[in-house]
Amino acid sequence: MNIVQVSAELAPWSKTGGLGDVCGALPRALVERGHRVVAVAPRYKAYEGAWDTGVRARIHLFGHTHEVGYHHLRRDGVEVLFVDHPSFRRPGIYGDDRGVYGDNLFRFALLARAALEAPLRVPLDGAPLGEDVVFHCNDWHTGLLPAFLEGTYRSAGRYARAPAVLAIHNAGHHGTFDAHEFAGLDLSTRWWPACDMAGRLNCLKAGVVLAAKLVTVSPTYARQLCIDHGHGLEGLFAHRAHDLWGILNGIGEEWNPATDKHLEHRFTVDDLSGKAAQKAALQRELGLPVRPEVPIFGVVARLDHQKGIDLLMGAAPWLLRQEVQLVVLGSGGAEYEDFVRRLGREAPHRARGVVGFSEPLAHRIEAGADVFLMPSRFEPCGLNQLYSMRYGTVPIVHATGGLADTVQTWDPARGEGTGWAFREFNVDALVQAIGFALRTWWDHPDAWRRIQQNGMRREFGWGRAAELYEALYRAAGGS
Ligand code: ADP
Ligand code: GLC
Repeated sequence: MNIVQVSAELAPWSKTGGLGDVCGALPRALVERGHRVVAVAPRYKAYEGAWDTGVRARIHLFGHTHEVGYHHLRRDGVEVLFVDHPSFRRPGIYGDDRGVYGDNLFRFALLARAALEAPLRVPLDGAPLGEDVVFHCNDWHTGLLPAFLEGTYRSAGRYARAPAVLAIHNAGHHGTFDAHEFAGLDLSTRWWPACDMAGRLNCLKAGVVLAAKLVTVSPTYARQLCIDHGHGLEGLFAHRAHDLWGILNGIGEEWNPATDKHLEHRFTVDDLSGKAAQKAALQRELGLPVRPEVPIFGVVARLDHQKGIDLLMGAAPWLLRQEVQLVVLGSGGAEYEDFVRRLGREAPHRARGVVGFSEPLAHRIEAGADVFLMPSRFEPCGLNQLYSMRYGTVPIVHATGGLADTVQTWDPARGEGTGWAFREFNVDALVQAIGFALRTWWDHPDAWRRIQQNGMRREFGWGRAAELYEALYRAAGGS
């Protein structure tokens, strides 16, 4: 199949969270299965190795004609196309210190239209891809693509057989805008009902209504979208439940403790001595006492309401009275950032908080910590708990979405389980789970080792997911 993946983020070039990781990794796995994949994302800046194809598309939006260019590179068999336009060349992806960019509807409508133009005009290996493609959209940023596919192209006789599927990585963000902005999209008013939610233009909703198939990143979240986690779209998701698949994310090879380039010491399930050395290195890096016997609790997250940072704040005073160390890396909400900044001041021998975004430090925390905390309010899939398990770092998670699907609570009687998943979303439940972990750490080191091994031996590659995506594209009508 010819697959055109379109996304606002594409790791390693652009990323604020898991969306970037997934859009960077899935195309590779699809290529390995013999498909041709073009990954389309904005050109936020100049990327090494990407060259200007010289192809230009002229796109009419918001009363003007805009010219976009396409920069190309090939990596691991994936054709990557960066859409070039001045509105993308900014320091942030969605916004900056002053808030979200005011023209995001325009920017991401432009991305969708540019992606729809690409198979028609950008030559790859000599000829353009052509019209027999599957469009794989991701989140609200590309939610309008199915509307343009129908309203701008199919109605003009193009892309007769090309389906669009929409992957939902986070239904908490809809991309809503004032209704009058619809006029700027150059779509017939026929398409307004699909876009309209409570009188506002809603990009996610448009995608959910118009995409041939929907997919989200775990089976549990797929169910939750229809019941209580659809952020107002529950009824619509339930209506389309037969078209809504749940496919668990995998993790990429850059998250492998045996080869991780960000680590000073590497390790495998059969020899964890490198993990102990990396733990000491992390303690030194952050200026914490180098104490192998004390468990390090790690957190790496966007500091967002979604991530349950409020539970962490509630549990922190108790946690920091225990014999533990706590390391938090994240950026986001001001109140949460204050909490992270205060940690080191309030518990200088026990805690460090780093506000910012650092890929290398994220790897070193995953590797050097003993426990990983992820008390998310909701979590479509979650990647950090998967990284943790692969790195022998035992996850404690709220049993929701993909966390419930991937972390199995330790059962000492059977020797099964990879961590602790607590059911109720409250501080007591988190504290209780941490209590189980601490007792196991101090009193049952053999059990601890077993939990680590269970996690490290789990299969989290992209192969299975790629197989299921392939089936999804076929079910959508792709050939
Ligand atoms: P989400 O996509 O909701 O943020 P995931 O667990 O799916 O959650 O993915 C988060 C990704 O973003 C992981 O790769 C994680 O390491 C990374 N990440 C989040 N915050 C930071 C940060 N402050 N510094 C470095 N990496 C981060
Ligand atoms: C989203 C979700 C996260 C998921 C990621 C990749 O940002 O919040 O749970 O793992 O996308 O699919």
